[in-house]
Parts: sequence; structure tokens; C-alpha cells
Amino acid sequence: MHDPVARHVGSTLATRRRATSETDWTWWRDGVLYQIYPRSFADSNGDGIGDLPGITAHLDYLEWLGVDAIWLSPISASPNDDWGYDVADYCSVDPDLGTLADADRLMEEAASRGIRVMLDLVPNHTSDRHPWFVDARSSRRSRYRDFYVWADPGPGGGPPNNWVNAFGPSRPAWTLDPTSGQYYLHHFLPSQPDLNWWNDGVREAFDQVLRFWFDRGVAGFRIDVCSQIVKDRELRDNPPAGPGDHPVIRRAGQRPIYNSYRPELHQVLRRWRAIADSYHVRRALLGETAVFDPQQLASFYGQGDELHLAYNFMLQRAPFALPELCQVVERTEAALPATGWPVWAAGSHDISRYPTRWAEGDAAKTRCIMVMLAGLRGTPLLYYGEELGMPDTAVPHDRVCDRGRQSMGGTGRDPARTPMPWEPVPGAGFTAPGVEPWLPVGDITACNVADQVDDPSSILSLTRDVVRLRARLPSLRRGSYRTHPGSEGELWAWWRGDDVIVALNLSDARASVPGVQGAVLLCTDRSRDGERVEAVLELAPREAAIVGLEV
Ligand code: GLC
Ligand code: CA
Repeated sequence: MHDPVARHVGSTLATRRRATSETDWTWWRDGVLYQIYPRSFADSNGDGIGDLPGITAHLDYLEWLGVDAIWLSPISASPNDDWGYDVADYCSVDPDLGTLADADRLMEEAASRGIRVMLDLVPNHTSDRHPWFVDARSSRRSRYRDFYVWADPGPGGGPPNNWVNAFGPSRPAWTLDPTSGQYYLHHFLPSQPDLNWWNDGVREAFDQVLRFWFDRGVAGFRIDVCSQIVKDRELRDNPPAGPGDHPVIRRAGQRPIYNSYRPELHQVLRRWRAIADSYHVRRALLGETAVFDPQQLASFYGQGDELHLAYNFMLQRAPFALPELCQVVERTEAALPATGWPVWAAGSHDISRYPTRWAEGDAAKTRCIMVMLAGLRGTPLLYYGEELGMPDTAVPHDRVCDRGRQSMGGTGRDPARTPMPWEPVPGAGFTAPGVEPWLPVGDITACNVADQVDDPSSILSLTRDVVRLRARLPSLRRGSYRTHPGSEGELWAWWRGDDVIVALNLSDARASVPGVQGAVLLCTDRSRDGERVEAVLELAPREAAIVGLEV
């Protein structure tokens, strides 16, 4: 079968600096992933909205940075109630972002630089303007009625059960459809009706969606709301959250055991994995697995026959503190099966950027976080702008675009979704000067690519160098993780394999890691790169280093 990924893979392996002699280089495991929010990366046609040709035009930058794959938040046709996460046609490109031909060109150009393209698959729900739902709500007997989850009102005439939607805890996940007198389920906006994954037609339709994109050369999917797509068939009430539950679950008020991680989900994941594996060049599946129990996270890897990568919310939602971060890593390491491979992301389009949320504006801490992401065992997943240390951008009330979280007050998720600052010029190099971008640009004089790219002390240079170090150093990619016993207080150090130590000092005081003999391969204080370490690794306040050991 003609396979556009296979076509490029030979040349990719031959030309990529890192492929060297390792024959089992696997991009989703050995490489670095980079999430792009397409509306905010680069606008090619001056309408203020980022688009696919804009991404294509910046592939040289991504190649220079050294990322192995990009994951694009949804690109398919959408009324944009939730900016692409409400899909009206899965096998299309939204006109704001370009055309199918633009998607093909992006994949081809990316492949010629050794970069894979992953898309976002949104299987939990569609837009209410998807033809399936338009048909489904037309009558109880319509052809696609059972593609969605419908239920009669509860005993008192209200919602059928106690499930709440994610955009406003305490709001029911149900809306009454007056035409048929039944409620339909939606775990997000009322205009995002949940699909019924008990229906074989839904399963088959999504098989086709996967194949449609895989056949075009898509290297994998990030699967939206992955852990939640199959719901309890009997629609049982969730029990209340208890004191032992994770804070995120306690805040939601209920333990989501009947609308999340149902056992039948694994059938669907195995089905998708079989499709991914049916391609000559295997495609990868990264699930948005919103769980807070390491064992549960581990279950999504199956027996090596479900997800390749399961997103770790425990890290992303942890406080930026020790020992909490270290505990998340240790628990994940302990729980994952031998066939499971961790993925580490500190940010996304759904949460405040980590230079703001975790580092609270402290650039030194932001640099430590980048070293942490690249230094853990597992695939680092960067969110666009993190390589610049880009903080949240305040979005004035009259510019708010995120309806999803508006119900929760404030400006929702927009501050983490503002345009990529390419240059310190009007339009930020994101759009044409004089054009109002869809979301405001941040402080572009403080943070932009052009100023950082040739500055060896910038976080952009640090990011690029740590990504390359990882590519060059087998232990940093594949070596096991082991916490160093010197870790205490706000010092966290770990071995990678036998010959690398990564150490983070998050405190305001100096710290030292005993028993380290070797050389600093990379330090957040770049003047220390190459420094000899004789017996003790000293770290300044809020400093991180990767050390190659003499063994
Ligand atoms: C996921 C997405 C988020 C979206 C939601 C509903 O959590 O990451 O942006 O709003 O699903 O699709
Ligand atoms: Ca545009």
C-alpha cells in the first residue's frame, strides 16, 4: 500500500543527525513532541488567525529546535464554540486554517525535515452542527439517533442522573431537547453532544476517520478526552468524592467512575491500536488520559496493545513543589508496565502556562522546568512558546474567546493560547502589521524568537541544546530513572541509566549532590557547561544541571 510516511522514512533516517547507529529509534519514544495550537502559531494570509500554511512556513524553525513531531490541536471544520474541539466534519480542514491540500503540503514538508505530524482526534463528542447530530435530534426514530446518548428525564423531571459537565462543576451534563422530550448528554458545552460509543456505527465511523488521516500520512493522534468516551450503559449516578480522592476530583464533587474509564474503553483503544499497527510505518496514539491514579494510567497501555503514550495529568496538575513532583514521577515509574512509556508535559492549551503557573515569573525556575522535562525518562511534550519561557498573556474581558471555561469566571484558557511571538514588531511576526490577531499578543519585547535565537544564554538556546543533548545521549533517552538518595528538601536529583545525573535545586539556597564525578553536560547557567565535577555537584539557587558521570 502506498504510505506517505514510509516514503519519507528512508531519507529521514539517513539524514537525521540523531539516527546514527540505533536501528530502533522510535520517534514517539526517543524524540521530543511539540504541541501547536494552530490558530495561534503563524498567520499566512493576514486575517489574524494562524493557519496550516503558517505552520509550514515555520518548519525550519521547528527542525532547528530539534522536535521530532508536532501535534496540532484540531484542524477539522468546526463552528468553533470550543475552537475546533467541536467538530462538524472529521475528514476536512476548517477554512480558517486552510484546505486538505494545505494539510498534505504541511505533512510532506514536515516529513522532508524528519518531523512527523500528529492530529487531534475528538471522539467523545461532535459539534451539534455535525450532520449526525442534526439528524439525531430531528426525531426519536431518526437514523443517527443512537449515535448520541439520550435518556428520559429523571424521576423528578430533571436530568437523568447526577453527572456534571467539565466546563462548570455543578452544572448537569444533560440538556433537554424539547422536540423529543429526552435529554442528551454533553460533558462539555451543550453544543458538544457526547457520542454513544456502545453504537457499532460510531465505532466504524471512527475507524474510517483514523484511516482517512493515516492514509494521508498523519503519524499519529492525540486523542481528546480519551479516558471518558465510553459511558456506563445504565447511566448510573457517580458517588460523591471522598477525602481520599485527588484534589481535582474533590473539586468536581464526585468520583467519575460511571462516566470515565469504563472497562469497555479498552476494547476501543485496542481497536484503534490495531489500525495504527496495520500501517507499514506504525502510527502512534497519545491519549488525553485525565486520571489521577497511576494504576489507572498504566491500564491505558494495555498489554502493549492500547495507547503508546498516556498523558500524565498527575504531573501537570501537581503543585510546583518537592517532594510532590518527585512523588508523581516515582509513582508513575512504579505503576507503568514494562511496555509502557511515560510522556511528560507541563503545559497545554487547557491550563495556565508553566512560567506563570509554576515558576510565577521566575525565569530561573522556568529554565529548571525545561531541564526536568527533557531529563525525565519518557517523551517530553512541549507546548508552543514554552521554549521561549512565554508566560500567560492577560486577555481583556472584551477579547475573551474561550466559552468553555467562561462559565468558571475570569478569562478561562485564553491566556495560554495567545499568538506565538516571532519578532518584536507590530503583529509580532505572527500576523501582518496593523492586523488585529484573534487573541492579543503578549509582551513581545520581553519574549520573542528573534531576540532569543542567537543568544546563547536564552531559554530558547537552552531548549534547543537540551533537546539535542537528549538526541545524542542514549542514557538520557532510554536510561532507567532512579531517584538519587541525596534528594531532600527542594533538591531533586535522579540517575538516568548508570552514567547520567539530572539535578534540580528549586530552593533559594545553594545545594549539593554528593558522589558525582564527571562533567556538566548542560546547566541552566550556561557558563557551567563543560565544568568538571569532583565528588560533589554544587548547585546555585534555582539551578539545574545534567551531568555525565565517569563510570
Ligand atoms: C479536552 C481539550 C479541551 C476541550 C475539551 C473538550 O480536554 O483539551 O481543550 O475543551 O477536551 O473537547
Ligand atoms: Ca490566517
